[in-house]
Amino acid sequence: MYLGIDLGTSAVKTALVDSAQRVIASESRPLTTFSPRPGHVEQDPAQWIDATFATLDALKATHAGELAAVEGIGLSGQMHGATLLDASARPLRPCILWNDGRSAAECRVLERRWPALRATSGNKAMPGFTAPKLLWIATHEPEIFAATKLVLLPKAYLRLVLSGEAIEDVSDASGSLWLDAARRDWSDAALAATGLSRDHMPRLVEGCAPATTLRGELARRWGMTGQPVIAGGAGDNPAGAVGIGAIRPGTAFVSLGTSGALLAPTSRIAANPDRAVHTFCHAIPDMWIQAGAILSAASCLAWIARLFGATEAELLAPLGLRPQAPSAVSFLPYLAGERTPHDDPAVRGMLDGLSHGTDRGSIVQAVLEGVAFALADCRDALADAGIAMTEADAIGGGSRSRFWLSVLANVLNVPIHRFTGGETGAAFGAARLGRLAVTGEAIAAVCTRPQRIETFEPDAGLVDAYAERLPAWRELYRPRH
Ligand code: XUL
Repeated sequence: MYLGIDLGTSAVKTALVDSAQRVIASESRPLTTFSPRPGHVEQDPAQWIDATFATLDALKATHAGELAAVEGIGLSGQMHGATLLDASARPLRPCILWNDGRSAAECRVLERRWPALRATSGNKAMPGFTAPKLLWIATHEPEIFAATKLVLLPKAYLRLVLSGEAIEDVSDASGSLWLDAARRDWSDAALAATGLSRDHMPRLVEGCAPATTLRGELARRWGMTGQPVIAGGAGDNPAGAVGIGAIRPGTAFVSLGTSGALLAPTSRIAANPDRAVHTFCHAIPDMWIQAGAILSAASCLAWIARLFGATEAELLAPLGLRPQAPSAVSFLPYLAGERTPHDDPAVRGMLDGLSHGTDRGSIVQAVLEGVAFALADCRDALADAGIAMTEADAIGGGSRSRFWLSVLANVLNVPIHRFTGGETGAAFGAARLGRLAVTGEAIAAVCTRPQRIETFEPDAGLVDAYAERLPAWRELYRPRH
Protein backbone atom coordinates (compact mmCIF):
# COMPACT_ATOMS: atom_id res chain seq x y z
CA MET A 1 0.00 0.00 0.00
CA TYR A 2 1.31 3.50 -0.86
CA LEU A 3 0.41 7.06 0.05
CA GLY A 4 0.62 10.12 -2.19
CA ILE A 5 0.38 13.47 -0.44
CA ASP A 6 -0.05 16.54 -2.64
CA LEU A 7 0.53 19.80 -0.79
CA GLY A 8 -1.32 21.99 -3.28
CA THR A 9 -2.25 25.65 -3.08
CA SER A 10 -5.97 25.31 -2.44
CA ALA A 11 -5.83 22.02 -0.51
CA VAL A 12 -3.77 19.10 0.74
CA LYS A 13 -4.88 15.93 -1.05
CA THR A 14 -3.83 12.52 0.24
CA ALA A 15 -4.45 9.35 -1.78
CA LEU A 16 -4.13 5.76 -0.58
CA VAL A 17 -3.10 3.55 -3.50
CA ASP A 18 -2.90 -0.25 -3.53
CA SER A 19 -0.40 -2.51 -5.30
CA ALA A 20 -2.74 -2.78 -8.31
CA GLN A 21 -2.53 1.04 -8.57
CA ARG A 22 -6.15 1.56 -7.53
CA VAL A 23 -6.94 4.65 -5.47
CA ILE A 24 -8.55 2.99 -2.44
CA ALA A 25 -9.42 6.24 -0.69
CA SER A 26 -8.51 9.91 -0.74
CA GLU A 27 -8.98 12.81 1.63
CA SER A 28 -8.56 16.51 1.09
CA ARG A 29 -8.44 19.51 3.45
CA PRO A 30 -8.58 23.13 2.25
CA LEU A 31 -5.77 25.67 2.71
CA THR A 32 -6.08 29.42 3.15
CA THR A 33 -4.03 31.85 1.11
CA PHE A 34 -3.66 35.43 2.25
CA SER A 35 -2.47 38.59 0.59
CA PRO A 36 -1.09 41.06 3.14
CA ARG A 37 -0.41 43.60 0.36
CA PRO A 38 -1.38 43.74 -3.33
CA GLY A 39 0.79 41.27 -5.26
CA HIS A 40 1.94 39.48 -2.08
CA VAL A 41 0.69 35.90 -1.65
CA GLU A 42 1.46 33.87 1.48
CA GLN A 43 0.44 30.78 3.44
CA ASP A 44 1.04 29.63 6.99
CA PRO A 45 3.23 26.47 6.99
CA ALA A 46 1.52 25.33 10.22
CA GLN A 47 -1.71 25.00 8.24
CA TRP A 48 -0.03 22.63 5.73
CA ILE A 49 0.89 20.35 8.63
CA ASP A 50 -2.54 20.51 10.28
CA ALA A 51 -4.25 19.81 6.94
CA THR A 52 -1.92 16.90 6.10
CA PHE A 53 -2.37 15.34 9.54
CA ALA A 54 -6.16 15.80 9.24
CA THR A 55 -6.20 13.86 5.93
CA LEU A 56 -4.22 11.02 7.50
CA ASP A 57 -6.31 10.97 10.69
CA ALA A 58 -9.42 10.76 8.47
CA LEU A 59 -7.95 7.88 6.45
CA LYS A 60 -7.18 6.09 9.69
CA ALA A 61 -10.81 6.48 10.75
CA THR A 62 -12.14 4.94 7.53
CA HIS A 63 -9.31 2.71 6.22
CA ALA A 64 -7.25 1.71 9.25
CA GLY A 65 -6.25 -1.68 7.82
CA GLU A 66 -5.02 -0.27 4.51
CA LEU A 67 -3.21 2.64 6.18
CA ALA A 68 -1.45 0.22 8.52
CA ALA A 69 -0.01 -1.55 5.47
CA VAL A 70 1.57 1.57 3.89
CA GLU A 71 5.19 0.90 2.88
CA GLY A 72 6.01 3.96 0.82
CA ILE A 73 5.01 7.63 0.81
CA GLY A 74 5.49 10.12 -2.02
CA LEU A 75 5.17 13.87 -1.60
CA SER A 76 4.11 16.33 -4.27
CA GLY A 77 3.87 20.05 -3.73
CA GLN A 78 3.13 23.51 -5.01
CA MET A 79 6.48 24.65 -6.41
CA HIS A 80 8.75 27.67 -5.82
CA GLY A 81 7.54 28.75 -2.32
CA ALA A 82 10.12 30.11 0.15
CA THR A 83 9.82 28.64 3.67
CA LEU A 84 12.49 30.20 5.86
CA LEU A 85 13.54 28.33 9.00
CA ASP A 86 15.58 29.41 12.02
CA ALA A 87 18.27 27.42 13.82
CA SER A 88 15.55 25.36 15.55
CA ALA A 89 13.87 24.59 12.20
CA ARG A 90 10.92 26.85 13.04
CA PRO A 91 9.35 28.99 10.26
CA LEU A 92 10.48 32.62 10.62
CA ARG A 93 7.57 34.07 8.65
CA PRO A 94 4.71 32.89 6.39
CA CYS A 95 5.77 31.12 3.19
CA ILE A 96 5.95 33.35 0.09
CA LEU A 97 4.16 31.45 -2.68
CA TRP A 98 4.72 30.72 -6.37
CA ASN A 99 2.21 33.34 -7.49
CA ASP A 100 3.68 36.16 -5.39
CA GLY A 101 4.86 39.06 -7.55
CA ARG A 102 6.86 41.19 -5.08
CA SER A 103 10.36 40.41 -6.28
CA ALA A 104 10.45 41.80 -9.86
CA ALA A 105 13.26 44.28 -9.06
CA GLU A 106 15.25 41.51 -7.35
CA CYS A 107 14.99 39.37 -10.51
CA ARG A 108 16.84 42.07 -12.43
CA VAL A 109 19.49 42.31 -9.70
CA LEU A 110 19.95 38.53 -9.73
CA GLU A 111 20.40 38.35 -13.51
CA ARG A 112 23.00 41.16 -13.30
CA ARG A 113 24.88 39.56 -10.40
CA TRP A 114 24.95 36.12 -11.96
CA PRO A 115 25.01 36.36 -15.77
CA ALA A 116 25.13 32.55 -16.12
CA LEU A 117 21.70 32.22 -14.49
CA ARG A 118 19.76 31.41 -17.68
CA ALA A 119 22.40 29.04 -19.08
CA THR A 120 22.79 27.16 -15.79
CA SER A 121 19.22 26.98 -14.49
CA GLY A 122 17.50 26.91 -17.91
CA ASN A 123 15.13 29.57 -16.58
CA LYS A 124 14.67 33.30 -16.59
CA ALA A 125 14.63 34.97 -13.16
CA MET A 126 10.92 35.49 -12.51
CA PRO A 127 9.25 36.65 -9.29
CA GLY A 128 7.49 33.36 -8.59
CA PHE A 129 10.80 31.52 -8.30
CA THR A 130 12.46 31.13 -4.92
CA ALA A 131 15.86 32.84 -5.29
CA PRO A 132 14.61 36.42 -5.96
CA LYS A 133 12.32 36.11 -2.94
CA LEU A 134 15.40 35.66 -0.75
CA LEU A 135 16.93 38.84 -2.19
CA TRP A 136 13.66 40.62 -1.36
CA ILE A 137 13.86 39.33 2.21
CA ALA A 138 17.49 40.44 2.48
CA THR A 139 16.46 44.00 1.54
CA HIS A 140 13.08 44.34 3.24
CA GLU A 141 13.34 42.00 6.25
CA PRO A 142 17.11 41.88 6.95
CA GLU A 143 16.67 40.50 10.47
CA ILE A 144 14.75 37.52 9.05
CA PHE A 145 17.38 36.98 6.36
CA ALA A 146 20.10 37.00 9.04
CA ALA A 147 18.20 34.44 11.14
CA THR A 148 17.51 32.13 8.17
CA LYS A 149 19.41 28.87 8.51
CA LEU A 150 17.46 26.71 6.08
CA VAL A 151 15.37 27.52 2.99
CA LEU A 152 12.81 24.86 2.07
CA LEU A 153 10.18 24.50 -0.62
CA PRO A 154 6.73 23.72 0.82
CA LYS A 155 6.82 19.94 0.53
CA ALA A 156 10.39 19.77 1.89
CA TYR A 157 9.10 21.53 5.01
CA LEU A 158 6.32 18.95 5.24
CA ARG A 159 8.92 16.17 4.86
CA LEU A 160 11.02 17.74 7.61
CA VAL A 161 8.04 17.53 9.96
CA LEU A 162 7.20 13.98 8.84
CA SER A 163 10.76 12.64 9.02
CA GLY A 164 13.04 15.06 10.86
CA GLU A 165 15.27 15.45 7.77
CA ALA A 166 15.75 18.34 5.32
CA ILE A 167 15.68 16.76 1.86
CA GLU A 168 14.48 18.00 -1.51
CA ASP A 169 14.02 16.31 -4.88
CA VAL A 170 15.63 17.74 -7.99
CA SER A 171 12.38 18.50 -9.86
CA ASP A 172 11.07 20.84 -7.18
CA ALA A 173 14.57 22.22 -6.62
CA SER A 174 14.72 23.33 -10.27
CA GLY A 175 11.97 25.83 -9.48
CA SER A 176 14.27 27.62 -7.05
CA LEU A 177 16.77 28.97 -9.67
CA TRP A 178 19.57 27.62 -7.43
CA LEU A 179 19.83 24.36 -9.34
CA ASP A 180 22.25 23.53 -12.12
CA ALA A 181 19.60 21.83 -14.25
CA ALA A 182 21.99 19.74 -16.36
CA ARG A 183 24.03 18.48 -13.38
CA ARG A 184 20.95 18.13 -11.16
CA ASP A 185 22.84 19.66 -8.24
CA TRP A 186 22.87 22.99 -6.40
CA SER A 187 24.87 25.71 -8.13
CA ASP A 188 27.28 27.35 -5.66
CA ALA A 189 27.43 30.45 -7.87
CA ALA A 190 23.64 30.77 -7.84
CA LEU A 191 23.50 30.44 -4.07
CA ALA A 192 26.33 32.97 -3.61
CA ALA A 193 24.43 35.49 -5.78
CA THR A 194 21.68 35.49 -3.13
CA GLY A 195 24.05 35.53 -0.14
CA LEU A 196 23.49 31.83 0.64
CA SER A 197 25.46 28.59 0.48
CA ARG A 198 24.80 24.84 0.41
CA ASP A 199 24.53 24.98 4.21
CA HIS A 200 21.16 26.73 3.75
CA MET A 201 19.88 24.05 1.40
CA PRO A 202 18.39 20.59 1.96
CA ARG A 203 20.14 17.47 0.66
CA LEU A 204 19.08 16.56 -2.91
CA VAL A 205 17.69 13.25 -4.19
CA GLU A 206 15.96 12.04 -7.36
CA GLY A 207 12.15 11.96 -7.16
CA CYS A 208 11.83 8.18 -7.26
CA ALA A 209 14.72 7.51 -4.85
CA PRO A 210 14.22 6.65 -1.17
CA ALA A 211 14.92 9.82 0.82
CA THR A 212 14.07 9.02 4.45
CA THR A 213 11.44 7.32 6.64
CA LEU A 214 8.35 8.46 8.52
CA ARG A 215 9.08 9.22 12.20
CA GLY A 216 8.22 6.32 14.49
CA GLU A 217 5.76 8.33 16.58
CA LEU A 218 3.82 9.40 13.46
CA ALA A 219 3.81 5.86 12.08
CA ARG A 220 2.31 4.75 15.41
CA ARG A 221 -0.27 7.60 15.35
CA TRP A 222 -1.55 6.31 12.01
CA GLY A 223 -1.35 2.67 13.09
CA MET A 224 1.36 1.72 10.61
CA THR A 225 3.19 -1.47 11.32
CA GLY A 226 6.58 -0.31 10.01
CA GLN A 227 8.17 3.05 9.30
CA PRO A 228 7.27 3.76 5.65
CA VAL A 229 9.94 5.01 3.27
CA ILE A 230 9.46 8.59 2.05
CA ALA A 231 10.53 9.08 -1.58
CA GLY A 232 12.08 12.23 -3.04
CA GLY A 233 8.71 13.07 -4.57
CA ALA A 234 8.24 15.93 -7.02
CA GLY A 235 6.91 19.39 -7.71
CA ASP A 236 3.19 19.19 -8.54
CA ASN A 237 3.71 19.40 -12.29
CA PRO A 238 6.38 16.65 -12.54
CA ALA A 239 4.33 14.55 -10.08
CA GLY A 240 1.32 14.99 -12.37
CA ALA A 241 3.50 13.79 -15.25
CA VAL A 242 4.41 10.63 -13.34
CA GLY A 243 0.72 10.08 -12.54
CA ILE A 244 -0.23 9.94 -16.22
CA GLY A 245 2.90 8.12 -17.35
CA ALA A 246 4.32 11.19 -19.15
CA ILE A 247 7.89 9.98 -18.76
CA ARG A 248 9.13 10.04 -22.37
CA PRO A 249 9.48 12.70 -25.06
CA GLY A 250 6.27 13.13 -27.04
CA THR A 251 3.93 12.87 -24.04
CA ALA A 252 2.95 16.53 -23.64
CA PHE A 253 0.13 17.35 -21.26
CA VAL A 254 -1.90 20.25 -20.02
CA SER A 255 -2.59 20.95 -16.36
CA LEU A 256 -5.67 22.92 -15.30
CA GLY A 257 -5.08 23.36 -11.59
CA THR A 258 -5.17 26.60 -9.58
CA SER A 259 -2.38 27.52 -12.02
CA GLY A 260 -2.13 26.13 -15.53
CA ALA A 261 0.68 24.70 -17.60
CA LEU A 262 1.55 23.06 -20.86
CA LEU A 263 4.29 20.56 -20.16
CA ALA A 264 6.56 18.48 -22.37
CA PRO A 265 8.93 15.79 -21.01
CA THR A 266 12.30 15.91 -22.83
CA SER A 267 15.44 13.74 -22.80
CA ARG A 268 17.65 16.84 -23.01
CA ILE A 269 17.25 20.44 -21.95
CA ALA A 270 15.47 22.53 -24.62
CA ALA A 271 15.32 25.84 -22.76
CA ASN A 272 13.75 29.08 -23.98
CA PRO A 273 14.16 31.45 -21.03
CA ASP A 274 13.74 34.53 -23.22
CA ARG A 275 10.07 33.59 -23.69
CA ALA A 276 9.72 32.55 -20.05
CA VAL A 277 9.61 28.82 -20.76
CA HIS A 278 10.37 26.87 -17.57
CA THR A 279 13.05 24.16 -17.29
CA PHE A 280 12.46 21.54 -14.59
CA CYS A 281 14.28 18.30 -13.91
CA HIS A 282 11.76 15.49 -14.24
CA ALA A 283 10.94 13.29 -11.22
CA ILE A 284 12.75 10.41 -12.93
CA PRO A 285 16.49 10.38 -13.72
CA ASP A 286 17.92 11.72 -16.99
CA MET A 287 14.69 13.43 -18.06
CA TRP A 288 13.60 17.06 -17.93
CA ILE A 289 10.34 18.93 -18.41
CA GLN A 290 9.95 22.11 -20.47
CA ALA A 291 6.85 24.02 -19.47
CA GLY A 292 4.85 27.07 -20.29
CA ALA A 293 3.28 28.11 -16.98
CA ILE A 294 0.33 30.44 -16.45
CA LEU A 295 -0.50 31.73 -13.00
CA SER A 296 -4.31 31.51 -13.12
CA ALA A 297 -6.28 28.66 -14.69
CA ALA A 298 -8.96 26.88 -12.61
CA SER A 299 -8.63 29.82 -10.21
CA CYS A 300 -10.22 32.02 -12.94
CA LEU A 301 -13.29 29.78 -12.91
CA ALA A 302 -13.37 29.89 -9.10
CA TRP A 303 -13.12 33.71 -9.29
CA ILE A 304 -16.02 34.13 -11.70
CA ALA A 305 -18.12 31.65 -9.68
CA ARG A 306 -17.51 33.79 -6.59
CA LEU A 307 -18.52 36.93 -8.47
CA PHE A 308 -21.75 35.39 -9.73
CA GLY A 309 -22.50 33.79 -6.37
CA ALA A 310 -22.88 30.40 -8.07
CA THR A 311 -21.05 27.10 -7.95
CA GLU A 312 -18.71 26.20 -10.78
CA ALA A 313 -21.05 23.36 -11.77
CA GLU A 314 -23.97 25.83 -11.98
CA LEU A 315 -21.94 28.07 -14.29
CA LEU A 316 -20.74 25.24 -16.52
CA ALA A 317 -23.98 23.26 -16.93
CA PRO A 318 -25.78 25.76 -19.23
CA LEU A 319 -22.77 25.88 -21.59
CA GLY A 320 -23.38 22.30 -22.72
CA LEU A 321 -20.69 19.94 -23.96
CA ARG A 322 -18.95 22.03 -26.56
CA PRO A 323 -18.88 25.64 -27.82
CA GLN A 324 -20.98 26.58 -30.86
CA ALA A 325 -18.76 29.60 -31.58
CA PRO A 326 -16.25 31.75 -29.64
CA SER A 327 -17.83 34.05 -27.04
CA ALA A 328 -18.36 37.68 -28.06
CA VAL A 329 -16.50 38.60 -24.87
CA SER A 330 -12.72 38.27 -24.40
CA PHE A 331 -10.95 37.65 -21.12
CA LEU A 332 -7.30 38.06 -20.13
CA PRO A 333 -6.64 35.56 -17.31
CA TYR A 334 -3.84 37.55 -15.72
CA LEU A 335 -5.54 37.83 -12.30
CA ALA A 336 -2.19 37.24 -10.54
CA GLY A 337 0.12 38.61 -13.27
CA GLU A 338 1.63 36.21 -15.78
CA ARG A 339 4.74 34.13 -16.38
CA THR A 340 4.86 32.46 -19.83
CA PRO A 341 5.31 34.25 -22.17
CA HIS A 342 5.13 37.77 -20.69
CA ASP A 343 6.92 37.49 -17.33
CA ASP A 344 4.82 40.39 -16.09
CA PRO A 345 3.85 40.22 -12.40
CA ALA A 346 2.08 43.61 -12.59
CA VAL A 347 -0.35 42.89 -15.45
CA ARG A 348 -3.94 42.17 -14.43
CA GLY A 349 -6.97 40.54 -16.00
CA MET A 350 -9.53 42.09 -18.34
CA LEU A 351 -13.01 41.50 -19.74
CA ASP A 352 -13.41 43.09 -23.17
CA GLY A 353 -16.38 43.35 -25.51
CA LEU A 354 -19.18 43.65 -22.93
CA SER A 355 -22.55 44.90 -24.23
CA HIS A 356 -26.18 45.15 -23.05
CA GLY A 357 -26.65 41.73 -24.61
CA THR A 358 -23.84 40.07 -22.64
CA ASP A 359 -25.19 37.32 -20.43
CA ARG A 360 -23.60 35.20 -17.73
CA GLY A 361 -22.88 32.33 -20.11
CA SER A 362 -20.86 34.45 -22.53
CA ILE A 363 -18.70 35.75 -19.67
CA VAL A 364 -18.11 32.26 -18.26
CA GLN A 365 -17.23 30.97 -21.75
CA ALA A 366 -14.86 33.92 -22.26
CA VAL A 367 -13.10 33.06 -18.99
CA LEU A 368 -12.51 29.47 -20.11
CA GLU A 369 -11.39 30.65 -23.57
CA GLY A 370 -9.01 33.24 -22.10
CA VAL A 371 -7.19 30.49 -20.19
CA ALA A 372 -7.06 28.40 -23.38
CA PHE A 373 -5.61 31.33 -25.35
CA ALA A 374 -2.96 31.82 -22.65
CA LEU A 375 -2.06 28.15 -23.06
CA ALA A 376 -1.80 28.74 -26.84
CA ASP A 377 0.85 31.36 -26.00
CA CYS A 378 2.64 28.65 -23.98
CA ARG A 379 2.41 26.26 -26.94
CA ASP A 380 4.05 28.84 -29.21
CA ALA A 381 6.82 29.56 -26.67
CA LEU A 382 7.53 25.81 -26.48
CA ALA A 383 7.46 25.55 -30.28
CA ASP A 384 10.18 28.24 -30.41
CA ALA A 385 12.33 25.83 -28.37
CA GLY A 386 11.68 23.11 -30.94
CA ILE A 387 8.97 21.29 -28.97
CA ALA A 388 6.01 20.39 -31.16
CA MET A 389 2.81 18.99 -29.72
CA THR A 390 0.48 16.71 -31.67
CA GLU A 391 -1.88 15.75 -28.82
CA ALA A 392 -2.13 16.41 -25.09
CA ASP A 393 -3.50 14.74 -21.99
CA ALA A 394 -5.40 16.87 -19.49
CA ILE A 395 -5.02 16.77 -15.71
CA GLY A 396 -6.02 18.99 -12.77
CA GLY A 397 -9.40 20.00 -11.36
CA GLY A 398 -10.34 21.92 -14.53
CA SER A 399 -10.10 18.72 -16.58
CA ARG A 400 -13.47 17.69 -15.12
CA SER A 401 -15.12 20.20 -17.49
CA ARG A 402 -15.78 18.63 -20.87
CA PHE A 403 -16.72 22.03 -22.30
CA TRP A 404 -13.33 23.43 -21.27
CA LEU A 405 -11.43 20.50 -22.80
CA SER A 406 -13.40 20.96 -26.01
CA VAL A 407 -12.42 24.66 -26.09
CA LEU A 408 -8.79 23.66 -25.51
CA ALA A 409 -8.82 21.08 -28.32
CA ASN A 410 -10.06 23.76 -30.71
CA VAL A 411 -7.80 26.58 -29.53
CA LEU A 412 -4.67 24.38 -29.49
CA ASN A 413 -5.83 22.43 -32.56
CA VAL A 414 -4.78 19.06 -31.11
CA PRO A 415 -6.79 16.17 -29.64
CA ILE A 416 -7.09 16.47 -25.84
CA HIS A 417 -7.49 13.29 -23.79
CA ARG A 418 -9.20 12.91 -20.42
CA PHE A 419 -8.48 10.21 -17.85
CA THR A 420 -10.27 8.59 -14.98
CA GLY A 421 -8.99 10.37 -11.88
CA GLY A 422 -7.11 13.00 -13.95
CA GLU A 423 -8.07 15.61 -11.37
CA THR A 424 -6.13 13.83 -8.60
CA GLY A 425 -3.04 13.43 -10.80
CA ALA A 426 -0.31 14.88 -8.57
CA ALA A 427 -1.19 12.84 -5.44
CA PHE A 428 -1.41 9.68 -7.55
CA GLY A 429 1.94 10.45 -9.21
CA ALA A 430 3.45 11.01 -5.77
CA ALA A 431 2.16 7.60 -4.62
CA ARG A 432 3.88 6.05 -7.66
CA LEU A 433 7.15 7.70 -6.61
CA GLY A 434 6.63 6.32 -3.09
CA ARG A 435 6.24 2.85 -4.59
CA LEU A 436 9.34 3.16 -6.80
CA ALA A 437 11.39 4.22 -3.78
CA VAL A 438 10.35 1.03 -1.94
CA THR A 439 10.38 -1.57 -4.70
CA GLY A 440 13.03 -0.27 -7.09
CA GLU A 441 10.87 -1.62 -9.95
CA ALA A 442 11.45 -0.51 -13.56
CA ILE A 443 10.06 3.02 -13.87
CA ALA A 444 8.19 2.23 -17.10
CA ALA A 445 6.49 -0.76 -15.46
CA VAL A 446 4.97 1.45 -12.74
CA CYS A 447 4.46 4.73 -14.62
CA THR A 448 2.04 3.35 -17.19
CA ARG A 449 -0.53 5.50 -19.01
CA PRO A 450 -3.93 5.34 -17.30
CA GLN A 451 -7.09 4.51 -19.20
CA ARG A 452 -8.24 7.41 -21.39
CA ILE A 453 -11.96 7.89 -20.97
CA GLU A 454 -12.58 10.47 -23.64
CA THR A 455 -10.83 12.32 -26.46
CA PHE A 456 -11.85 15.79 -27.58
CA GLU A 457 -11.06 16.20 -31.27
CA PRO A 458 -10.62 19.63 -32.86
CA ASP A 459 -13.48 20.68 -35.14
CA ALA A 460 -12.24 22.43 -38.32
CA GLY A 461 -14.84 25.24 -38.16
CA LEU A 462 -14.14 26.05 -34.52
CA VAL A 463 -10.36 25.77 -34.99
CA ASP A 464 -10.57 28.48 -37.69
CA ALA A 465 -12.90 30.64 -35.59
CA TYR A 466 -10.55 30.53 -32.58
CA ALA A 467 -7.45 31.05 -34.75
CA GLU A 468 -9.08 34.22 -36.10
CA ARG A 469 -9.76 35.48 -32.57
CA LEU A 470 -6.28 34.81 -31.17
CA PRO A 471 -4.48 37.86 -32.67
CA ALA A 472 -7.16 40.26 -31.34
CA TRP A 473 -6.99 38.57 -27.92
CA ARG A 474 -3.19 39.01 -27.90
CA GLU A 475 -3.62 42.72 -28.76
CA LEU A 476 -5.46 43.24 -25.46
CA TYR A 477 -2.24 42.68 -23.48
CA ARG A 478 -0.43 45.86 -22.52
CA PRO A 479 2.85 45.37 -20.60
CA ARG A 480 2.92 47.07 -17.19
CA HIS A 481 6.69 47.20 -16.80
C1 XUL B 1 4.75 26.04 -11.72
C2 XUL B 1 3.94 26.80 -10.73
C3 XUL B 1 2.67 26.22 -10.24
C4 XUL B 1 2.82 25.80 -8.81
C5 XUL B 1 1.50 25.62 -8.10
O1 XUL B 1 5.82 26.74 -12.19
O2 XUL B 1 4.28 27.85 -10.30
O3 XUL B 1 2.23 25.17 -11.03
O4 XUL B 1 3.59 24.64 -8.75
O5 XUL B 1 0.72 24.65 -8.60
